[in-house]
Amino acid sequence: MLPGSGYTNGYLPHGSSEKRIGLSPRERFRRGSRSSRDSRSGHGFRVSGQERPRCTEFDMAYFQSYSHVGIHEEMIKDRVRTETYRAAILQHQSSIAGKVVVDVGCGTGILSIFCALAGAKRVYAVDASEIAVQANEVVKANNLSDKVIVLLGRVEDVEIEEEVDVIISEWMGYMLLYESMLGSVITARDRWLKPGGLILPSHATLYMAPITHSERYSESIDFWRNVYGIDMSAMLPLAKQCAFEEPCVETITGENVLTWPFVVKHVDCYTVTIQELESITTRYRFTSMMQAPFHGFAFWFDVEFSGPAIFPANIHGYSPPVASSDTYSPGSSQRKKRSKSNEALVLSTAPEDPPTHWQQTLIYFYDPIEVKQDQVIEGSITLSQSKENPRFLNIHLEYASGGRSFVKESVMR
Ligand SMILES: C[S@@+](CC[C@H](N)C(=O)[O-])C[C@H]1O[C@@H](n2cnc3c(N)ncnc32)[C@H](O)[C@@H]1O
Repeated sequence: MLPGSGYTNGYLPHGSSEKRIGLSPRERFRRGSRSSRDSRSGHGFRVSGQERPRCTEFDMAYFQSYSHVGIHEEMIKDRVRTETYRAAILQHQSSIAGKVVVDVGCGTGILSIFCALAGAKRVYAVDASEIAVQANEVVKANNLSDKVIVLLGRVEDVEIEEEVDVIISEWMGYMLLYESMLGSVITARDRWLKPGGLILPSHATLYMAPITHSERYSESIDFWRNVYGIDMSAMLPLAKQCAFEEPCVETITGENVLTWPFVVKHVDCYTVTIQELESITTRYRFTSMMQAPFHGFAFWFDVEFSGPAIFPANIHGYSPPVASSDTYSPGSSQRKKRSKSNEALVLSTAPEDPPTHWQQTLIYFYDPIEVKQDQVIEGSITLSQSKENPRFLNIHLEYASGGRSFVKESVMR
């Protein structure tokens, strides 16, 4: 998912070409009520003891960005994404049929409809973007209005007068955590999920690996050394800054990766907390498997669709089945390995897997570092929600190799 297409790293502009169609939203579907949280307490639901987060101007711009058809078209056309979700719903059909589901951020309603077709008794399709108006039309056109209840509002604000058996959501941003939508899934879980209920996806893992990418470097930087026979090297500092100051969303291949990846963060959606996501720091250590210019780091993620019972260790801390720098094996073998061990479907955005609209996120250095085979690359990475806008990601990267050390700060905005 992404607000905006291509490498924008941002939200679509306000107010551009939004259409209001026909009747008011209220006439066409139920709008999520914004009654106070206290009104829930008599119904036996779990409510977090915390104030619900305020809907800021940044949030409003974010929801506005999702009212445009292009974003939804791109997500739905990403067959790896959409078909893996559909396969996961079918795989968990026995936990969905006859049950109550909430779709956190339903968009056009596609996942809600998949769940209804899989036999769900009732699906609450919640979205704070006006795209929910369209979702309601789609639901009606498919004669599913008796099963799918579209609520226009934030998950943090809408009221659902019953507990749910299943939460489904497509919340993943670039580098997994950009957009900070996982917090809303956690809110939904803590507000409505029955004990033992199902969350799809259930687990997520963010990986990083050092990469070499001479073509990309030449294209943006070396190009300036000789332009129609003119030495334009004076442009180099500006070219490096413009090309590499911020993270880039691009597609690389397994051939760009210098060694096995490292797990930056493993998330268990059954137990993760909002506080845990505010700032994540991890130390890493790689050993380069080849001699090559080292241009930066790639980040990607996968999500897994497991039931809670598959991981009895959930409550006490869960160890991921793969993905330390030592145990990961590239290529489809990773997915096969995971499927074999726990039968869970995995949606992967790894460079060696079929491409998705998330591509990979690259943090390039301003200058490459020559590494030899077996040379150690080590350091730390901190990902934290920006104070300015929690949907932005501040990235503090420290890296050292061959006796030299560096720090790179960037913001994914
Ligand atoms: C990545 S899209 C997924 C849309 C749809 N589920 C799909 O798979 O095509 C995420 C959607 O979640 C909505 N969203 C994000 N945070 C939300 C929140 N706190 N409450 C309600 N909707 C939210 C956005 O407006 C957006 O439409």
